[in-house]
Amino acid sequence: MQLSINRRLLRNNCLFFFITLFLLELFFISIKKDSNQIPNKSQFGQQIDSTNRRRQQQQQPQQQQQQYFFNYLQPKHHSVQCNALYEGDQDELKHALALLSDLKHPQPIDNKYYNITKDQCAVYKSERFNYPYHTRDEENKNYPIAFTILMYEHVEAFERLLRVIYRPQNYYCVHVDNDASTDVYDGVKNIVQCFDNVILVSKREQVVYATFSRLQADLNCMNDLFKYANWKYLLNVANTELPLKTNSELVKILKIYRGYNDIEGRWKTRNLHRTEYRWETIRAKDSDKQITIKKTNEKKKPPPSSIEIVKGSAYGAFSRQFVEFVLTSPIAKELLDWSRDTYSPDEHYWASLNFNTHLHAPGSYKAKDDPTKWTARFVNWGERNCYDPLLVERRGICVFGIVDLAILPNRRELFANKFSLTGDPIAYQCLEELIMNKSLVDLPLSDASYYRQMPFLQPL
Ligand SMILES: *[C@@H]1O[C@H](CO)[C@@H](O)[C@H](O)[C@H]1NC(C)=O
Ligand SMILES: *[C@@H]1O[C@H](CO)[C@@H](O)[C@H](O)[C@H]1NC(C)=O
Ligand SMILES: *[C@@H]1O[C@H](CO)[C@@H](O)[C@H](O)[C@H]1NC(C)=O
Repeated sequence: MQLSINRRLLRNNCLFFFITLFLLELFFISIKKDSNQIPNKSQFGQQIDSTNRRRQQQQQPQQQQQQYFFNYLQPKHHSVQCNALYEGDQDELKHALALLSDLKHPQPIDNKYYNITKDQCAVYKSERFNYPYHTRDEENKNYPIAFTILMYEHVEAFERLLRVIYRPQNYYCVHVDNDASTDVYDGVKNIVQCFDNVILVSKREQVVYATFSRLQADLNCMNDLFKYANWKYLLNVANTELPLKTNSELVKILKIYRGYNDIEGRWKTRNLHRTEYRWETIRAKDSDKQITIKKTNEKKKPPPSSIEIVKGSAYGAFSRQFVEFVLTSPIAKELLDWSRDTYSPDEHYWASLNFNTHLHAPGSYKAKDDPTKWTARFVNWGERNCYDPLLVERRGICVFGIVDLAILPNRRELFANKFSLTGDPIAYQCLEELIMNKSLVDLPLSDASYYRQMPFLQPL
């Protein structure tokens, strides 16, 4: 009796054991399959391309998953619902923040991986730049925009920025700092060789923060781009930035601006010490590398041509005629020379040319208002809370993160400064996804009346 019960118990236990084993096995197989699928594919690329792929799949029903030649150039995809983050969904935000903190120290793709050779360009472009608007953009064909892109690190950031703003009719000039690593320079060069309308700057500067070199780098690119005859506006961009508008929206806004410059300017908060005294560059010991600049006690002569210095931003939207004026007019040249030993001339040069009415610079502002309205950049100078203290950049600018996503789609500015692939790659992925999605449809410009009412467009 005792024995038979035990035997039944044993049999039942064995049965239970094998069934559990079987279920566990099934479970692990399915997990393994999922994790095999996720890391290597660009989820986003697949989503965007879903119509194409559906067509392909109809032709070849077996082909389930795209294999890339440049698998290692597909950015890591983070599984978050960007749409929910844009809508301020708190649960998704918690999930995304947890995912971000799990990442610990996110690293961009190794610069060395951008070793694309000329004969690989077709494959590279089909895997990374294969969107309808990358090959044709009929709507905006006659309204090319020129871009300067300044950078010193992270080829991946450059590639992803270019991928969002690239259009066949536009022009792009890339300035890689003279002291950037050769891996960075070579990586960028390899990408650039694949495009007819993307160039490397002909003269590289060693860019040191707050010195003249930053302005000179942009000017070198402007000079190179001016040779291309038909672009309408020039936007200068850093590779830590991302657009808040699609190319088609940029065109619509710039058409409303009809040749007027979109430049920030402030007369009252001028930081006079920046331009009243001479600043000198400090060089590193045993090298002529500049490292920083320092104020001297030597007073500067007043600026040429009775120009009043106006504080603004290094970034703007400059009309072609304004760029021509900057590159060719003697007054612009004199102000440039006068600015060489000032602090951060990139932040007063454009504004001073644009807001001194007596210079009659093309597309310039006609009055002396303070402060001016402008739309070229959304910068969070810490006025809004930086949610993550680690993301405050040392120059006091907050890096945009997932918490900021809910406010970005409704901003009117053209670009946002700044993002970080090492700080918050998820915010990066989501903004990319939004702009790429919006590029597939051509909707009317929302807020057109806002742009029409910009003060620099009003007749006086
Ligand atoms: C992609 O998958 C292959 C094999 O499936 C692996 O060897 C390679 O390291 C993976 N690449 C990345 C970037 O994860
Ligand atoms: C480029 O780098 C990858 C990864 O290190 C390597 O597998 C590949 O062979 C390299 N290609 C060329 C053309 O050197
Ligand atoms: C982008 O489009 C894909 C495919 O339609 C969609 O799943 C995704 O939610 C969209 N994302 C955004 C931010 O619009």
